[in-house]
Amino acid sequence: MFLRLLPFLACACYAFETDRWTNFLIFDGHYLPMAKCWFQWFQKSASSHPLQIGCMDSASCAEAELWRQNLESKVDSMSITNVIDDSANMDVSISPGGEMRLVQPHGGHRQMIRSEHSIDSGFPRSNYIQIYHKMLWNELSQKRSVLHLDVDALWLRRPDSNLSQVLQEHPDADIVASSSTEWDPKKIADKWGFVLNVGFILYRYTDRVQKLFEDDLLSVPRDQQSCQQLLNFVLDRKGCQWSGSSDQNRVGLCGGIKVIALPQTFVSRATDLTYSQEDPSMPIIAHPDTGLLHLTGINRMQKFHDMGLCTQ
Ligand SMILES: *[C@@H]1O[C@H](CO)[C@@H](O)[C@H](O)[C@H]1NC(C)=O
Repeated sequence: MFLRLLPFLACACYAFETDRWTNFLIFDGHYLPMAKCWFQWFQKSASSHPLQIGCMDSASCAEAELWRQNLESKVDSMSITNVIDDSANMDVSISPGGEMRLVQPHGGHRQMIRSEHSIDSGFPRSNYIQIYHKMLWNELSQKRSVLHLDVDALWLRRPDSNLSQVLQEHPDADIVASSSTEWDPKKIADKWGFVLNVGFILYRYTDRVQKLFEDDLLSVPRDQQSCQQLLNFVLDRKGCQWSGSSDQNRVGLCGGIKVIALPQTFVSRATDLTYSQEDPSMPIIAHPDTGLLHLTGINRMQKFHDMGLCTQ
């Protein structure tokens, strides 16, 4: 009797484990006003999942430190890694009980980051692009799924239960990503009718995702290629078969990798919405596509104010 139950128990444990992920955000001092706005929403809609911040300079690291104090026990745990100047050689994380522990960074990782220090100030900053997949890999290699968040993808509501719902419907999903019709990259938008957007994207800890990182994503992107372009091109090269329409979760099989593309009702790229708490048509995540308006970097702040998304 007991033996017959074993496979069943193993399945339940597996489902539980794969339903956990780390929320992951990287930012630098140039984006401080945007980051403060992001945090206001995050704090309101705080997810119980662990939060990992990759800060890129002293201003962003100091800000992240303030967040940690404000969040206290709202999240499972929060850790901050200075991804550029990792001079302390360690990463301090605080558990809900307030207990500090030192986390030894992934071997070799520090070295890679350090050699990529860049003074480029355009967006996306080239050091960000290069750091991006390596930081995510760091989480994955600790057997954790990782939800990457852009600093301008604002949590109007907590996404946890909706995301868990997607995973229940697609327990074998490897990647769950926001999607949009933006032309980045245009070739893919023309071909699929949309692109995967990395501003809200869950990479699950699966064998296929690990292989994708090892084979394709950890290679340093070519000049002018963003992490988003790289991901879309890599998946397209594997050959993607998509089903579903734009108002539902689209399901794609790209060379055996199962990708779920979320609809705009989940993560919206609209720039014409005005936030209203009572309006049930508000998306869960607002990630306005300010690139459409030729607003880059921190010049986007005014638009976020006008949309009622950021108050400061
Ligand atoms: C999120 O979950 C709620 C409750 O199940 C549901 O009503 C809503 O439609 C979901 N939203 C999206 C965008 O999936």
